[in-house]
Amino acid sequence: MVELTLPKNSQVKPGKTWPKPAGAQNVREYRIYRWSPDDAENPHIDTYYVDMDDCGPMVLDGLLYIKNKIDPTLTFRRSCREGICGSCAMNIDGTNTLACTKGVDEVNGTVKVYPLPHMPVVKDLVPDLSHFYAQHRSIEPWLKTVSPAPAKEWKQSHEDRTKLDGLYECILCACCSTSCPSYWWNGDRYLGPAVLLQAYRWLIDSRDEAKGERLDNLEDPFRLYRCHTIMNCAQACPKGLNPAKAIGEIKKMMVERRL
Ligand code: SF4
Ligand code: SF4
Ligand code: FES
Repeated sequence: MVELTLPKNSQVKPGKTWPKPAGAQNVREYRIYRWSPDDAENPHIDTYYVDMDDCGPMVLDGLLYIKNKIDPTLTFRRSCREGICGSCAMNIDGTNTLACTKGVDEVNGTVKVYPLPHMPVVKDLVPDLSHFYAQHRSIEPWLKTVSPAPAKEWKQSHEDRTKLDGLYECILCACCSTSCPSYWWNGDRYLGPAVLLQAYRWLIDSRDEAKGERLDNLEDPFRLYRCHTIMNCAQACPKGLNPAKAIGEIKKMMVERRL
């Protein structure tokens, strides 16, 4: 039998329990993953108490409460606070989602918060998305044309524009890719659901003139074909999108061009 030995710093240890806010009547417990490259410590889980009478209703509000009133060293990303920028993606209560659109009342009991899974961690709840962004760059996510540029703009019929619905809304939060078992194991070579959904968005844009080249770029046993239609991606997407369907459409295009 194979025996695996985990590196010492992979073990998550119990951390500090911070005091409850004085006089608070209505508290929620948060348990949050903490790890800093600046000390030699293992990751640990710290426990905090948030006064819900002094805090907004979303999980992100609780994180901001903790950072502003209890522990300023807690590190996480956020910007828009309304599900548009994608920067507050993290694992909450066992699901990858956006902290700013996840209500504390949707979580039973303790609010458990971890960084997006299977990504290197920069610090606390901040994952390193460099590889994810490089993969996005690799599909050349911009309009590619050979025709002379029109005087004003590249036009599109209303009908062609509606083909982008369910795709253009993607905010590249990476909740789907970091829920995908194929991406966990082969993320170095498999592009994953988010980037493939983006690839499809350009493949079906009626104004784009690089369809063949784009398909050539995806025709590879790993980049596209590691999707096994497990559908975790569609379940995870906080914007209600379906990357698995987009991937299926790309596979169909691959077959059609051979006929
Ligand atoms: S359907 Fe494909 S992309 Fe989506 S989670 Fe499954 S393997 Fe990953
Ligand atoms: S498809 Fe959904 S989960 Fe995936 S990156 Fe886009 S918005 Fe996020
Ligand atoms: S802060 Fe922008 S999506 Fe959550």
